[in-house]
Amino acid sequence: MIKVITYGTYDLLHHGHIRLLERAKALGDYLIVGVTSDDYDKTRGKINNQQSLMERVAAIKATGLADEIIAEEYEGQKIDDIRRFGVDIFAIGSDWEGKFDYLNEFCKVIYLPRTEGVSSSEIRAKNRKLVIGIIGSGGLRNKFIREMQYVNGVEHKECDDTLDGVDAVYVASHPRRHYDDVKRALLAGKHVICESPLALEAEKCRELIDYARENGLVLEDAIKTAYSTAYSRLLVVAKSGRIGDIVSVDSVCSSLAGGVAEPGVDLSRRQNSISSWGPTAMLPVFQLLGTNYKTKSIVTKLINSDYNFDGFTKIDFVYDKAVASIKVAKAAKAEGELVITGTKGYIYVPAPWWKTDYFEVRFENPANNKRYFYQLDGEGIRYEIVAFAKAVESRRDYSYISDQTSLAIVKVIEDFYSGDRIELK
Ligand code: CTP
Repeated sequence: MIKVITYGTYDLLHHGHIRLLERAKALGDYLIVGVTSDDYDKTRGKINNQQSLMERVAAIKATGLADEIIAEEYEGQKIDDIRRFGVDIFAIGSDWEGKFDYLNEFCKVIYLPRTEGVSSSEIRAKNRKLVIGIIGSGGLRNKFIREMQYVNGVEHKECDDTLDGVDAVYVASHPRRHYDDVKRALLAGKHVICESPLALEAEKCRELIDYARENGLVLEDAIKTAYSTAYSRLLVVAKSGRIGDIVSVDSVCSSLAGGVAEPGVDLSRRQNSISSWGPTAMLPVFQLLGTNYKTKSIVTKLINSDYNFDGFTKIDFVYDKAVASIKVAKAAKAEGELVITGTKGYIYVPAPWWKTDYFEVRFENPANNKRYFYQLDGEGIRYEIVAFAKAVESRRDYSYISDQTSLAIVKVIEDFYSGDRIELK
């Protein structure tokens, strides 16, 4: 019996895929189809498959062409599979010409001509054209526009105050304008992705979330870290009990860029430490320990009290069974690390933890330590855009940040502004 194996993503199965599978099958007696898992695709830079692994596998199954379907989950798996299944022929489309010659050592490699004129990317782009306008200027705007180019089916369009001609809006204005800008967009029937915090008062944030939900609009809290693979795996590992019970979450975010403490700088247009870094720093605290802390205390060092401009702020949270602390700064510098302390070990994420592709689980005995590496492209922004586009398309919530977390973040920032804080001299 001649065994043939082929691999692919097979998103939105099209006739190019089917023709390839037919020809691969005809090369032998038994066809194994490897379908790439979502995680593995991410590491290959394929970030916005429209269908899940299960859906893609079901579509291949329905063709009746595959005798066996497997998931491809890691680099180097092809060699393992070829050995494991006793494969005679590895077949793949000609877009991969030459790339798999190294497998000749294990079996015969055949490149089959690719069908002209059809691809999953093109179908995705046609199916979904989400036109996104941007409110706000500055660095975030440019980054967002750049990252949009990596997501099939989303397109940037300049828009004016009427927001005409766009389906959705990315809000990256000054945080004190977020509530008005988000509200205006929602009232105009636009889906919104907004830099955190969504508002500066919890009640207003609630109002925006409720309005969006009641009117079938997507409102996504844009904390890019939440969408990075390393960060989301870290949450799973921390919650799995690997490090025992979590007793402390400590996160630090600081950046001295922008010289906010320099004389003569117009701080009215700049973002203070708590609103620019607070949401990111609080994210792991609320996602790991929940939002029902018993007490919190805010200590801050203001650079300018007229604008409530904090150069450095430290917040301590006390929960029933754990504590947490965040330090955020734009006029002070510290190691930007995240440490999750557990009763059996700890998770360490080196600086800058908010855009990491790596973390470590550490124990008393270093021989038990484990390092985790993941792919991170575009600081997580492109994954955040993928989640947003998916949510708009399906009207399901693809956000990685719960409403409670968004609200808890806003509440802390509201308390900071209302003066519930100790001020250092
Ligand atoms: N394939 C093909 N002809 C096409 C498209 C794909 O023969 N028009 C083959 C590929 O060469 C590969 C398999 O089908 O062997 C799975 O390809 P995949 O990457 O999943 O599909 P694409 O349509 O190329 O996807 P994308 O546009 O996302 O790259």
